[in-house]
Amino acid sequence: MEEMKKGLEGVVALDTKISFIDGIQGILMYRGIRIEDLVDLPYDAVSYLLINGKLPDEAELNEYSLKLKENRHINCKLVDFLKDLSLGSEELDGLRTAISCTAHFDEENNHHTVDANQNKTARLVAKFPTIVAALHRGSHGLDVISPDNDLSHGANFLYMLTGRMPTELEAEAMEKDLILSAEHELNPSTFSLRIAASTLSDMYSAVICGLCTLKGPLHGGARKGVMDMMDEIGNIENAKDYVLGKLERKEKVMGFGHRVYKTYDPRAKIYKDVARRLAIENGDTSWFDMAEEIEHILYHEFVEMRGKPIYPNVDFYSAVVYKYLDVPAELATSIFAMGRVSGWIAHCMEQYSDNRVIRPRAHTI
Ligand code: ACO
Repeated sequence: MEEMKKGLEGVVALDTKISFIDGIQGILMYRGIRIEDLVDLPYDAVSYLLINGKLPDEAELNEYSLKLKENRHINCKLVDFLKDLSLGSEELDGLRTAISCTAHFDEENNHHTVDANQNKTARLVAKFPTIVAALHRGSHGLDVISPDNDLSHGANFLYMLTGRMPTELEAEAMEKDLILSAEHELNPSTFSLRIAASTLSDMYSAVICGLCTLKGPLHGGARKGVMDMMDEIGNIENAKDYVLGKLERKEKVMGFGHRVYKTYDPRAKIYKDVARRLAIENGDTSWFDMAEEIEHILYHEFVEMRGKPIYPNVDFYSAVVYKYLDVPAELATSIFAMGRVSGWIAHCMEQYSDNRVIRPRAHTI
C-alpha cells in the first residue's frame, strides 16, 4: 500500500480548472485570473466566472444579476421556522438547517439536468444572504427585512442584516469579502462537498457537506475565533502577553498559519487594506492597530523560535473587517459561506461533469 500522509498533506486528489494557488509566491487565481484583478468587480461577476468558467459580458452579467435578484426572497414558511430556531453561539448551525429546509421547498431538488442545476445554483447563491440575515434578525426578535433589489449582493446583505443603508465603503468591503471568500481550491469544505457530489448526491446535500466542514475552528470557524480573541485581548497593551501565553501553552493563535501558503496569503493583504480603510472611516483604528500588533508579535516570535515566519491567513483581517462592519462574531462563518457557495457550486458541477466516486483507502493498524 501507498505511504499514508497524515492530513493528506501534499496529496493531489483531482484536477480542477476552477482555481490555482502558488503557496510559495502567494498567488491565487480564479479561472486563470489573479484575485487582485477580480476584487474590484461585482460579486455577481465573480460568481458567474467561477460557475461558468469565463467572465460575463455586460448582457450576461445583467441577466445573471437579475436571476439572482429574482431568487433573493425566501419562502414565508421558512421565515416563520427560522424565527423559532434557537441559536447558540454559532449561527451556521441554523444556516445548515435552513438550507436543508430550502431543498424541501425546491421542486428541482432531486433533478439533475443542466437546467435544474443552473436554477438551483441561482437559488442557492441568491438565498444564502437572505437566510443568514433573516435567521439572525428573526432569532433576536427583530423584524425580518425583505431584499432590496436596487442593491448589490453584498450591500443588500448588510441592509437586510442591519436595516440601514451601508456606506459606499461598507458596501465595497462586503462585496470584496464575498469575492475573497468565494473559492480556494481543495480546502477541507470543498473536498467534503466534492466527495458528496462524487456519489451523485444532489447539489443541496453537497453544499450542506461543505457547510458542516466549514464550521470547524481550524477552517472557516477561525474567523469567529479571531473576533472572539480580539474581544478577549481587549486592547493593544494586552496583545503581547496574550500571544506569548498562547505560544507557551502550545495553543494555536486563530487566523494564522496555512497548509498551502508559506508566504503572505494574497487575500489577507487585500483584507488588511480594506480593514485599514474602514478603521479610518470609522474614526477609531483600535481594532486595526491591535490586529497589526498581533501580526508583528507572532511574526517575530516565529522567526526567533523556529527560524521561519508565520503569516495571517484569510480569516485574520477579514475578522477585523467584520468588527468594523459591526457584524456579530456568531455570524462570521455563515458570511464566509455566503461567499464560498459560488466556489462550492463550481466544484459540484466540475465533479458531476467528469465523475469518479472519491474513495481512498486506509491502513488498518
Ligand atoms: N498559532 C500557533 N502556532 C501555529 C499556528 C498558529 N495559528 N499555525 C501553525 N502553527 C504551528 C503549529 O503548532 C506547528 O508547530 P509544530 O511543528 O511545533 O507542531 C506548525 O506551526 C505547523 O502547523 P500545523 O498545524 O501542523 O499545520 P497544518 O498545515 O496542519 O494546519 C492550520 C494549518 C490548520 C491552518 C493551522 O495553521 C491552524 O490551526 N491555524 C489556526 C486556525 C486557523 O486560522 N484556521 C484557518 C485556516 S484558513 C481557512 O481554513 C479558511
